[in-house]
Amino acid sequence: MAGSKQKKILFIFGTRPEAIKLAPVIKCFKSDAYFETRVCITAQHREMLDQVLDFFKIEADYDLDLMKKNQDLFSLTARALEALKAPLTTFKPDLVFVHGDTTTTMVASLAAFYAGAKVGHIEAGLRTFNKQSPFPEEINRQLTGRIADFHFAPTEKSKNNLLAENIQESQIFITGNTVIDALEETVKRVSQKIPQCAETIPFGSKKVILITGHRRENFGPGMRRVCEVLKEIVERRHDVHLVYPVHLNPNVKNTVHEILGNIENISLIEPLSYPDFVWMMNASYFIITDSGGIQEEAPGLGKPVLVTRDTTERPEAVTAGTVKLIGTDSTKLKAAILELLDNAESYKRMSKAHNPYGDGKASARILNAVKQNL
Ligand code: UD1
Ligand code: UDP
Repeated sequence: MAGSKQKKILFIFGTRPEAIKLAPVIKCFKSDAYFETRVCITAQHREMLDQVLDFFKIEADYDLDLMKKNQDLFSLTARALEALKAPLTTFKPDLVFVHGDTTTTMVASLAAFYAGAKVGHIEAGLRTFNKQSPFPEEINRQLTGRIADFHFAPTEKSKNNLLAENIQESQIFITGNTVIDALEETVKRVSQKIPQCAETIPFGSKKVILITGHRRENFGPGMRRVCEVLKEIVERRHDVHLVYPVHLNPNVKNTVHEILGNIENISLIEPLSYPDFVWMMNASYFIITDSGGIQEEAPGLGKPVLVTRDTTERPEAVTAGTVKLIGTDSTKLKAAILELLDNAESYKRMSKAHNPYGDGKASARILNAVKQNL
């Protein structure tokens, strides 16, 4: 197809979950000659982003290489806005895709607007309506929603949130969440063999609980409480083993290693590659997390999830009963863990596999919507 007829598409993202959830969309757009598709990474994350790019074989056309150790929101936001000018003004995209709710998402949509490009927001319309939780993601998502021209909402509920904010219905497309597209592709590629990262974990003989955590509003007391409860559980229960791939944010790493380091039945490990993490989710008994993406993936795999947050912008699986919103209160968390360990009925009720977030075809729907409307 002649270059002049092609629509120019720029994907901008910066963190691990954005890369996982955009990988199938990028693949779709790259394989369609109607579009000239380029990829810009802010690299708000570095190692954790590169792991995903390697697995999905995504090459960045522009790498802004912004990550600094223990970066704060002021400087990350300012440096990202400044650095995005070059790719936007040289490539001059017709449409910029952003995803979700990170600082990269919010800044990239603003930068795209300044550059005169249209903005497509994938995973649009998720809301807690509490601007402190998740912080700063709720506000990142609302600001991106104000700027976006096309809103790709994963569910009916997220569409309704956008309608309530006076976004025009013609700009909203219910597509499902692309995380399911990524998960389905990955499950097919995940080896049946035990990956190296799991060789020392006693999957056969113990109940293995998989843990992750990184929310800013949990830094300090919340995260400490969660770690103390986990420590108490393994001290009391010799039938349990915890696996914790620790997020590289020093606010997480330092607390987790201080409280849970060097304990026999706890494996603190480096962040896992996406296929290894999917393998680990599948092999574990249940999951404790404050992650957004894991709340969407685990129900598809039939794994119960206890969420160490007070709010969630993903209520669909909570309503279905496979995800429980627990928060970081010690008594509540301990009770919820023990119930899943000891009450077979409760465990069974939370273990049914279902996919409220998508059917694996979200990327194709996004491509079709853009073709028809750009
Ligand atoms: C970010 C997003 C959050 C998202 C999460 C996914 C913001 C404000 N936060 O949180 O919405 O849910 O990513 O994981 O956008 N670090 C490394 N290597 C890495 C990644 C991070 O060393 O590959 C360390 C660095 O010291 C960095 C720090 O983690 O400064 C914080 O990274 P940042 O992206 O600012 O925040 P996250 O907590 O990762
Ligand atoms: N994940 C991963 N390796 C890990 C932990 C998580 O690949 O060690 C994946 C997980 O399957 C999900 C995504 O990373 O797709 C979630 O990322 P994170 O929890 O960092 O961010 P959030 O979803 O909360 O924004």
